[in-house]
Amino acid sequence: MRYETVHDVTLPKIGFGTWSIGGGTYADRSRDAKSLAALRSALDLGYTHFDTAEMYADGHAEELIGRAVRESGVKREALFVTSKVKPSNLHYSDVLKSCETSLRRLSMEYIDLYLIHWPMVGMNLSDTFRALNKLVHDGKVKHLGVSNFKLKLLKEAQELSETPIITNQVPYSLSDRSYVKNGVLEYCQKNNILLTAYSPVDVGRLNVGKALQSIAEAHNASPFQIALAWLINQPYVITIPMSFDPKHQKENLDAADTVLTDEEMKQLN
Ligand SMILES: NC(=O)c1ccc[n+]([C@@H]2O[C@H](COP(=O)([O-])OP(=O)(O)OC[C@H]3O[C@@H](n4cnc5c(N)ncnc54)[C@H](OP(=O)(O)O)[C@@H]3O)[C@@H](O)[C@H]2O)c1
Repeated sequence: MRYETVHDVTLPKIGFGTWSIGGGTYADRSRDAKSLAALRSALDLGYTHFDTAEMYADGHAEELIGRAVRESGVKREALFVTSKVKPSNLHYSDVLKSCETSLRRLSMEYIDLYLIHWPMVGMNLSDTFRALNKLVHDGKVKHLGVSNFKLKLLKEAQELSETPIITNQVPYSLSDRSYVKNGVLEYCQKNNILLTAYSPVDVGRLNVGKALQSIAEAHNASPFQIALAWLINQPYVITIPMSFDPKHQKENLDAADTVLTDEEMKQLN
């Protein structure tokens, strides 16, 4: 595994996403066995960064992560857990309540990294950060970050946060370069902020053209592994692919060890 460090925080280049664990927008308990099996195999394979949110399966993803970790015997300190407060809960007291509820669902004493999931039109960002700063102060949350923030809001968040903004979690993949075009990636790289690439595999939209196919063959890898390797070969970029399939989970983890040449990076760019 390769890692990125910003400030005093070290994160693996590849973590595990949990959207669709435990359901979709709502909890679907009929999927629990499948979801728990996916979390167990991710833990067994050695994933240490788990990305979740109060919004995922209406909180049920957090419950299942808590249960899978408890049953795995993996020590809490060996893991890095990211969760997120949803846009409708950005008022001061709602942020505090959301975090308490997430901690209870995870059955953990702290969240390593707590993000604003999406900005909300008309939100009072300083009110939100007053609550987020308090959570850090109280030890409920170790670090703060944001998600889906464009440049102007990201800079505002930096101003309002009493501790460094560790990450901006945004869509980034071979098929989605919107946060390159809008200048966020470059800003993160110049200002010691991790860009956490979500939906990095983007199976449905990935265009497996000639270049990607031949680079994959040269590395004896799948095009999806090369898509991940392309992301994490970039400084300050980490990612959090999701898979129910243990074979895909292993492939994704192994992608962290695939080093692409400058020429290969250029072709994929
Ligand atoms: N902050 C936000 O607003 C936001 C938004 C979206 C996502 N996220 C986070 O980012 C995580 C990842 O994004 P995502 O779940 O949207 O998309 P993703 O990880 O890019 O793609 C997941 C899909 O790719 C397939 N897949 C994964 N690895 C594969 C491989 N090696 N070969 C073939 N297929 C593979 C999975 O199917 P199988 O199960 O069959 O492998 C699954 O259908 C989420 O789980 C969530 O934690 C955050």
